[in-house]
Amino acid sequence: MSEGLRFYWYQGVDALLKGDEALAQDIWMSAMLECRVDDVQERTAELVEVLEDTAIESLQAGNWAGARKCYEMALEIDQSFENLILKKILFWQEIYTQHCENRGYEFKTDWFSGNIPIWNQVLKKFMGSPNLSFVEVGSWQGRATCWLLDNVLTDSSSTIICIDTFQGSVEHESMGLGEDVKSLESVFDYNIQRTGRADQVKKLVGFSQDWLRQLPLNSFDFYYVDGSHIASDVMEDVVLGWGLLKEEGIIIFDDYGWGAYQDQPTMHPKLAVDSFLEVFKDRVRVICKSYQVIVEKVV
Ligand SMILES: C[S@@+](CC[C@H](N)C(=O)[O-])C[C@H]1O[C@@H](n2cnc3c(N)ncnc32)[C@H](O)[C@@H]1O
Repeated sequence: MSEGLRFYWYQGVDALLKGDEALAQDIWMSAMLECRVDDVQERTAELVEVLEDTAIESLQAGNWAGARKCYEMALEIDQSFENLILKKILFWQEIYTQHCENRGYEFKTDWFSGNIPIWNQVLKKFMGSPNLSFVEVGSWQGRATCWLLDNVLTDSSSTIICIDTFQGSVEHESMGLGEDVKSLESVFDYNIQRTGRADQVKKLVGFSQDWLRQLPLNSFDFYYVDGSHIASDVMEDVVLGWGLLKEEGIIIFDDYGWGAYQDQPTMHPKLAVDSFLEVFKDRVRVICKSYQVIVEKVV
């Protein structure tokens, strides 16, 4: 068994036995994302083996409930469906990594590439169309922006507005990203230049809660909400952005399933996103509710 990943399989099993299945899935999934597509099958078999061994140990210790959880999870993971989703993500990640190298992008973090399969599906209706207007709150080093320029905003008449303080967010210091924050804006500019489409990008430096008030109503096809994760900020971002979006426009909220601050709802996007979904339930079509939440404005 690969020693590097063994730790994660057991860490996930520990979370599972403590009743946190979502955390267990997150731990296993992030470990799987580290491996190559060709290795997924073997790694999955390892995880299933760990779950089966733990189930036997649990039975021997008289922990029937724990044993059952592990057996059920082993069965679920063994089914090829899970593998397919994961393989799809890994497949796109490999292609995307190669693409970034070819382009010469300089990204220090990757909070984006796991979204590519679903973004490919949801944004298909826009790909290559002329005169698209997109807006992004929270651009960081430009990963999502560059992907959109390379894959969706490929007609030169289409544009994206990128709003960012380029000061980072409260969580970045504790994530050890202090040094990256210092160079954020210049790295963003560099990456945008590498797309060859810098003239399609309008950068607005400052707080989204200020800039969003100054943008024209009913003019955007797509809105990516990935700035501050503090619930009150996300709430302002979505309410201010709502009127900017055209009918049938798409909103994507990042980090709905974020692992941090789950015990402090006001520090997490979920509280704002859930409130928005509840209040606007007759005016949106929910396309996806997973780590990201994706909705279409139906009005
Ligand atoms: C998670 S990062 C965005 C990641 C990016 N979308 C990507 O594809 O890699 C969050 C960004 O939001 C910015 N930010 C945080 N609070 C903000 C606010 N109130 N207004 C504008 N930008 C903000 C931070 O500077 C940071 O660059």
